[in-house]
Amino acid sequence: MKRLVSENVWWVGKIDWELKKFHGSEYSTHKGSSYNAYLIREEKTVLVDSVWLPFAKEFVDNLEAEVGLANIDFIVQNHAEIDHSGGLPELLSRRPGLPIYCTANAVKSLKGLHHQDWNFRVVKSGDSVDIGNGKKLVFVEAPMLHWPDSMFTYIAGGAVLFPNDAFGQHYASEFMFNDLVDQDELWAECIKYYANILTPFASLVTKKIEEVVGMNLPVEVIAPSHGIIWRKDPLQIVKKYAEWAADYQEDRITVFYDSMWDGTRKLAEGIAQGISEASPSTSVVVRNAAKTDKNDVITDVFRSKAVLAGSPTVNRGILNAMAGIMEEISGLRFKGKKAAAFGCYGWSGESPKLLSESLVKAGFELVDDGFKCLWEPDAAAVEAAREYGRLFAKRLV
Ligand code: FEO
Repeated sequence: MKRLVSENVWWVGKIDWELKKFHGSEYSTHKGSSYNAYLIREEKTVLVDSVWLPFAKEFVDNLEAEVGLANIDFIVQNHAEIDHSGGLPELLSRRPGLPIYCTANAVKSLKGLHHQDWNFRVVKSGDSVDIGNGKKLVFVEAPMLHWPDSMFTYIAGGAVLFPNDAFGQHYASEFMFNDLVDQDELWAECIKYYANILTPFASLVTKKIEEVVGMNLPVEVIAPSHGIIWRKDPLQIVKKYAEWAADYQEDRITVFYDSMWDGTRKLAEGIAQGISEASPSTSVVVRNAAKTDKNDVITDVFRSKAVLAGSPTVNRGILNAMAGIMEEISGLRFKGKKAAAFGCYGWSGESPKLLSESLVKAGFELVDDGFKCLWEPDAAAVEAAREYGRLFAKRLV
C-alpha cells in the first residue's frame, strides 16, 4: 500500500514485521525492519530502490495495481544489496529494458548478484536527471557507506534525500515517521545500526557528511531504505552520525565474558562492583556473551570508553562465545577505547593473555596485563577482583 512521504513522493516498500535476523544471522532485528522503496511522481515517474527478494512479487503486483508498471519511466538503484535490489528481476521481467540509474560499482554488484545485463545508466557524483515540474534528481556517490556501490539521490526542488542504508534503522512501524514513533525505541535502533554496520567506515561517514552539508542543500525529508523516515528536524540524524563517527564514547564500561562453572562470572561481577565503587558516575554493564544478543553487546562496546573481556582458559584457549564476539569486534575497528582481560583457570591459564592479544588486534589500548584467578574464586579472590575493578577505573582517569 503506497503512502505519501512528501509532495509527489510515495513510499512503496514493504514492512517486514516477522524479521528476526538480518544479513543471514549476523544482525538481530528485535523490532523487525522495512525495505523502503519510493516512487517519485513528477512529469517522470521514478522508482527509487525496491525490496528484499522474498517480497518481490508482492511488491511488483502492488506497483502494477497502484501505479501501473507501464507508467514507470526509470529506476534509481542507490545500492545493489539484495534487500534493495530483490525486486528487480520480477519488475524487469515485466518491464524489460526499463533504465536503471546507478553507480559503476552497482553495475558490477547487480550483475554479480542477479546475473542479468539490464539497461544500466551509470551516474557519478554531481550528475543529474530532469524529472519535470522544475525538479531534478542529483546523484552523490557514497562509496563504502556501506558498500562500494552505495549512492545518495537528492530531489533538487523537492528537498528530499534518499541515502539508502545510511541514517536507517531496523525498525518496523506503521507510524512511518520519526515524529510519530517512540523516541527511545527509535534511537536505540539507530545506535545499534550505526555501531554494528557503519563503525568500520567512520572516517568516510565524517567526510561524506562534510561534503553533503557543505553543499548547503535544503533538506526537508531524509528517506532511508530501512525503518522510519526523518521529516521532523531531519538533520538530527546527520548530526548524530557525525557525533558517532568521531570515536564516540560515553562514561560507560562494558564487562563481557563467558563462563563454564560461574568462576569467570563471579570475577566479572566483582570487577564491575569495584569499578562502580571507584567511579560511581560510570555506567557499568555486565554481559554474558553466550547469553546476550551479540549485536546488543557490540552496541554496549560502541558506547563504552573501556571494556573488560573475560573467559576461563579451556584447552589452552578461550570459550567459543568470546572467540566469536572478539572476531566481530575486531572487524568493526573501534577507536579510542581502553581494555583489559580476565578469567579463571585450573592449570595453564592463557585466557587473559589471548584475550589481551585479541583486544590489541581489535584496536583497543590495554590498561594492564589483566586479572586471572586459579580455580574457583573464593571470597578473597572476589575481593581481589573488586580491587582490580577499582584500580582499572582509576587508571582510566
Ligand atoms: Fe540494506 Fe546494504 O543493504
